[in-house]
Amino acid sequence: MYEAHFGFTSKPFQLVPDPDFFYGSRGHKRALAYLEYGLHQGEGFIVITGEVGAGKTTLVRNLLRRVPQQKIVAAQIVSTQLDAQELVRTVASSFGLNTEGLDKTQILGRLEVHFRSLYSEGRRALLIVDEAQNLTAQAVEELRMLSNFQIEAHSLVQSFLVGQPEFREMMQRQEMRQLKQRIIASYHLGPLDEAETRAYIEHRLTKVGWQENPRFQKGAIEAIHRLTDGVPRRINTICDRLLLAAFLGNSNEITAANTEDIFNELNVELGINRDHQFALHRGTNESESTPSNAQADSLNSVPANSSIEVSLARIAEALELMARRQNTLG
Ligand SMILES: Nc1ncnc2c1ncn2[C@@H]1O[C@H](COP(=O)(O)OP(=O)(O)OP(=O)(O)O)[C@@H](O)[C@H]1O
Ligand SMILES: [Mg+2]
Repeated sequence: MYEAHFGFTSKPFQLVPDPDFFYGSRGHKRALAYLEYGLHQGEGFIVITGEVGAGKTTLVRNLLRRVPQQKIVAAQIVSTQLDAQELVRTVASSFGLNTEGLDKTQILGRLEVHFRSLYSEGRRALLIVDEAQNLTAQAVEELRMLSNFQIEAHSLVQSFLVGQPEFREMMQRQEMRQLKQRIIASYHLGPLDEAETRAYIEHRLTKVGWQENPRFQKGAIEAIHRLTDGVPRRINTICDRLLLAAFLGNSNEITAANTEDIFNELNVELGINRDHQFALHRGTNESESTPSNAQADSLNSVPANSSIEVSLARIAEALELMARRQNTLG
């Protein structure tokens, strides 16, 4: 809507995890390094956790682009509350196997044959489980069993588990201890600091052809960082709205006051309780503290699609404005 006004080639702050927009913050780079290290080891589990909206899925997509496909066959599943049977079926389907009419034992047999045949071609299977905080204890156990497939001490499949902070807490449970022993690296992805928030915003804008229009006035980035706590998804939400507001107001600048206004507007529209707003822990990228679920932020706890939507009233307003402009031009 505002893209043409600012001369952008597309929307800079979409909420989809698009690897084309990947910005390598210190935390994201380190997490990638852990994943790559894990790949190199060729066995066991690598665990990546991070705040809601911190960029875990984006990270995984970025990694998938970099893995050498002639060596590694990667499959990704997004975990809902799968039980053991469903998990095994989902994993098999993600590797392209037909599981119709087969029970769990038969599917496991088929997976093993598949992994062995990859191995004989000099390739290795990599399973990525996103939203791992949703895994049930039985599903985790099945993943552990999969990691037992071996040929002459070589693992046939390796797994990356990617999840929200609760997953970290899950790993501390007694029933997880066997899985824990097989984790070869883990990393907690924290938020961006203020300098990274600026670089992140400019990186996304530059990708769509931004040439300092609109310009961020002194204090604007500081306000964005403070109000979003440096969490990329929240930064996207607020920046998208700031751009829309600048367009609607026919303005070429974004100020700290605009940011506060938009933030308040989002609170009202999304029904966010002000007492809880952005009440997040301020962890570092390698923070050892495990943020509790109760601290999960309210902006992100609404479904992603509702947090992206600008309100209908504003869209109507914008369409009207465009129609008026077109009439003036015509
Ligand atoms: N390093 C990054 N570079 C560019 N964009 C990013 C980066 N990290 C996150 N984003 C953006 O932030 C938003 C949220 O990212 P993503 O969906 O990857 O987060 P997540 O940690 O997987 O969230 P969830 O906990 O809900 O699964 C997306 O719009 C994504 O494009
Ligand atoms: Mg995700």
